[in-house]
Amino acid sequence: MEYRGYDSSGIAVADGAGISLVKRAGKLANLEERIAEVGEDSMRGTTAIGHTRWATHGRPTDENAHPHLSYDGRAAIVHNGIIENFASLRTELEAAGIELSSETDSEVAAHLLARAYNEGETAGDFRASALAVLGRLEGAFTLLFTHADHPGQIIAARRSTPLIVGVGDGEMFLGSDVAAFIEFTKEAVELNQDNVVVITADGYEVLNFDGSAAQGRPFTIDWDLAAAEKAGYDSFMMKEIHEQPAAVRDTLAGHFHDGRVILDESNISENDLKSINQVFVVACGSAYHSGLLAKYAIEHWVRIPVQIEVASEFRYRDPVLDERTLVLAISQSGETADTLEAVRHARTQGAKVMAVCNTNGSQIPRESDAVLYTHAGPEIGVASTKAFLAQVAANYIVGLALAQAKGTKYPDEIREIWDALEGIPAKIEQLLAVKGQVKEIADDLGAVRTMLFLGRGVGFPVALEGALKLKELAYIHAEGFPAGELKHGPIALIEDDLPVVVVVPSPRGVKLLHSKIVSNIQEIRARGAKTIVIAEEGDDSVEPYANWLIRIPATSSIMQPLLATVPLQFLAADIARACGNDDIDKPRNLAKSVTVE
Ligand code: G6P
Repeated sequence: MEYRGYDSSGIAVADGAGISLVKRAGKLANLEERIAEVGEDSMRGTTAIGHTRWATHGRPTDENAHPHLSYDGRAAIVHNGIIENFASLRTELEAAGIELSSETDSEVAAHLLARAYNEGETAGDFRASALAVLGRLEGAFTLLFTHADHPGQIIAARRSTPLIVGVGDGEMFLGSDVAAFIEFTKEAVELNQDNVVVITADGYEVLNFDGSAAQGRPFTIDWDLAAAEKAGYDSFMMKEIHEQPAAVRDTLAGHFHDGRVILDESNISENDLKSINQVFVVACGSAYHSGLLAKYAIEHWVRIPVQIEVASEFRYRDPVLDERTLVLAISQSGETADTLEAVRHARTQGAKVMAVCNTNGSQIPRESDAVLYTHAGPEIGVASTKAFLAQVAANYIVGLALAQAKGTKYPDEIREIWDALEGIPAKIEQLLAVKGQVKEIADDLGAVRTMLFLGRGVGFPVALEGALKLKELAYIHAEGFPAGELKHGPIALIEDDLPVVVVVPSPRGVKLLHSKIVSNIQEIRARGAKTIVIAEEGDDSVEPYANWLIRIPATSSIMQPLLATVPLQFLAADIARACGNDDIDKPRNLAKSVTVE
């Protein structure tokens, strides 16, 4: 679970006698070291809860790490999410003489549990105590409760954040996602919103927050442990970059049959699609950049306006939506709180929501009218690579489905676009060989303090994604700009030897665009920049202006981002390492899936 948060971690083990707790700031290795110091024998028991943290309230210190113990040392909890009413609960506990030892919003849950268990109506009843605590919490949370008096049971609950049950043989698991227990079982159970689950070694029981019986949805995990291992690569990110041909191929598979584009599970009828007259795209991070490409494609193919917004802004500015609006929610994890809230808002406004998602059974697809799954497989590297390319491919499928429903493209035009799309995986395969050249460029560049990325048309989102990768991995300042905008301000940043990446559009695309960007390259060269030019094979016009020239296979303009992004992924990883960040899978301050707003 480390990829979901890695600023601190901890584990609490319960046996009949009490609870043993170890927690440490920093990466999981620090916790392992600490467990070795205290001795594994002191950490034996029948139930255990663990946590890897991405700080919200309180710095990543030993004290703020989870699990949190109750004042009497008999109960322990871990929490994911934010308890919004923690301040008043904290005041109440302090008034009762309970001293809190961390700055977190989470710790209150441990004390509330102990109080409910020690006093009043629920005294001595673990389950009733846990339910009573849940009834008092506001916000979003996944919570796990253990109690020393009940070393055979863990009680867990979820509201808006993920929790999956793993069903073993004589052992049961809980995890924020299936990677937590895939090593032990492929049988899992999905829970609904506001569900509680009680697990013992032999079974599980699902409840509602009021204690009434509820049902989970059992499913079998369709990827194996190998998918979550490095398979000989030095990092997950490198492995995932190399998996991109398969990620795109598998995402396209089955979506074009007898000359027609086919969507996945969809409660949006062909008639509904036909009536769509505007599209909103909501997403965060790399998924947002893939959404920018959806805008180019859909406006071009379907001739309806497409607006795109980072998900965290969307619902706070009252966007104009109605039942003829399609909201495309793009999320690798399917759990990103910002995107989930945008989906909920869109649905209350009557819009149709289609999710593009890489994680089966996650919350965003569940709350959407339709879902198109990307088949990138599990992505462990925190900086997205294969999921991003798969999202672009999926967005293009949605665009084609809309063009087909609305009749804005003839079937033979759709087929032609599809053929270009299907040709992409083989081209990515070929392009992976660029790795060595990119490494040499990174070596030549040496220590870089800042870097700019320029593109025009569909090259602009590529520039943004290239800059984001570099920021995430190398912790250096990087910005992506539309190349034409440079002269209106950012050109002031150009100084001698500043490295600038330029994504050159295909010369066979919009002719003017190509010659305009060639002029833009000259403008920055004239001011001392060093250019790393990404251009398609056979485009010789840019050669004189490139300090380094990276060739990508020729394809149609709109498909170029699926190729041009790949060298930028390698570049970010190589520069990161040159800057001394070897752990490219887990860049500082980030987490793979951010389930708080
Ligand atoms: C986090 C990750 C990013 C990711 C973004 C959106 O911030 O660090 O790499 O692009 O979330 O994630 P999603 O799962 O919604 O695609």
